[in-house]
Amino acid sequence: MYETSKVHGERRLRLARAMGRGVAIVPTAPERARSRDSHYPYRFDSYFHYLTGFGEPEAVLVLVAGAHAASTLFCREKDQEREIWDGFRYGPQAARATCGVDAAYPVSRLDELMPGLIADQPALFYPLGADELWDSRIVGWLNAVRGQARSGVAAPAVIQDVRALLDEMRLIKGADELALMRRAAAISAAAHQRAMRVVRPGLAEYEIEAELLHEFRRSGAQAPAYAPIVASGASACVLHYVQNDGVLNAGELLLIDAGCELEGYASDLTRTFPVNGRFSAVQKDLYELVLAAQAAAIAEVKPGNAWIRPHEAAVSVLAQGFIDFGLLAGSLEQVIETEAYKRFYMHRTGHWLGLDVHDAGDYKREGKWRALEPGMVLTVEPGCYIRPGEGVPERFWNIGIRVEDDVVVTVSGCEVLTGAAPKTVAGIEALMRGGHG
Ligand code: GLY
Ligand code: MN
Ligand code: MN
Repeated sequence: MYETSKVHGERRLRLARAMGRGVAIVPTAPERARSRDSHYPYRFDSYFHYLTGFGEPEAVLVLVAGAHAASTLFCREKDQEREIWDGFRYGPQAARATCGVDAAYPVSRLDELMPGLIADQPALFYPLGADELWDSRIVGWLNAVRGQARSGVAAPAVIQDVRALLDEMRLIKGADELALMRRAAAISAAAHQRAMRVVRPGLAEYEIEAELLHEFRRSGAQAPAYAPIVASGASACVLHYVQNDGVLNAGELLLIDAGCELEGYASDLTRTFPVNGRFSAVQKDLYELVLAAQAAAIAEVKPGNAWIRPHEAAVSVLAQGFIDFGLLAGSLEQVIETEAYKRFYMHRTGHWLGLDVHDAGDYKREGKWRALEPGMVLTVEPGCYIRPGEGVPERFWNIGIRVEDDVVVTVSGCEVLTGAAPKTVAGIEALMRGGHG
């Protein structure tokens, strides 16, 4: 529980207002076995957490909107025996007070109480298709209500995906969320600085990964927000490289894409720097191209601009650079029109960021890229990835570069959250020499 229940109560009210009338059922994530009786580290469901702040597994929020609006939490009972083994659990009474819900019951009573909660509600809002077991339980409750039709109760006639409403809410971050995201970003930036300080030829990629994880944890972050990428040399051209078992060689670049999760909120940060602390001429040329593409993209992050504008700005700078370096032939218009640039830059320039690293929210509205609004948080992450191949001068081979920052749209433009991690050539080289970046 990272804060009082107030903010979650307000979100439940907003959701209820958006629903109009009906009942929403939002379960948290299940625990998952990793092998035999050991489990993956538990991570709550982001939607459930957004509405409750409650971190225990085996919990469900039921929210009734309309005239008889009420919120009910189902959760595990207190259990002294289990608490000796697994630690504290709230139990319904304490959970009710902590989450500020109107009522709380043991989760063991779900099947008994749910048909009554959904009976006579005009609509059921639920994350349809997210989990087969929940789907079949919900259908079971609907059928239980339908079975009582002759006693005058009706099952909801409309079933809607509650995520459509919640995604829109989650897309615009509140002050409390931005405060957490700033802290998460600062921790990740410190971890990248730490990595820059310790990197030297001969170390293994996983030793650098260990430094990142150390910094995340010692700063209070609960986990990495995604599997860290620590990719040196040619591995930097593998977009989702996570083996992290190579050895760092002098003369190569190291690409690190790693961000922590703090109180549920993700940060997502990439820096690329030379293993021996000095960019070679060709590395510098390409690196500064990517950096210029990122600057052009960030300049387009402002209210009213279409989502795609930063990407278009980055593509335009990168494509011109690829032509100037002799990597691609043709005019800028041709290279963009034919998407020839995708040979070296094949991903998008960013994504929404929040409780999930690739966060909730539509990118298009009625077929059109949506406009940026204050409170939206996105990444800006252009790169270039040059594999050996025909027509590619050898000096560029196996260079992979990405520069990624987390950015909030503000009233007048944007705020970069991850700026404490150096990214200019001079800043990186100074930090690696033992300076202050
Ligand atoms: N680290 C995942 C991404 O950059 O999208
Ligand atoms: Mn990333
Ligand atoms: Mn990203």
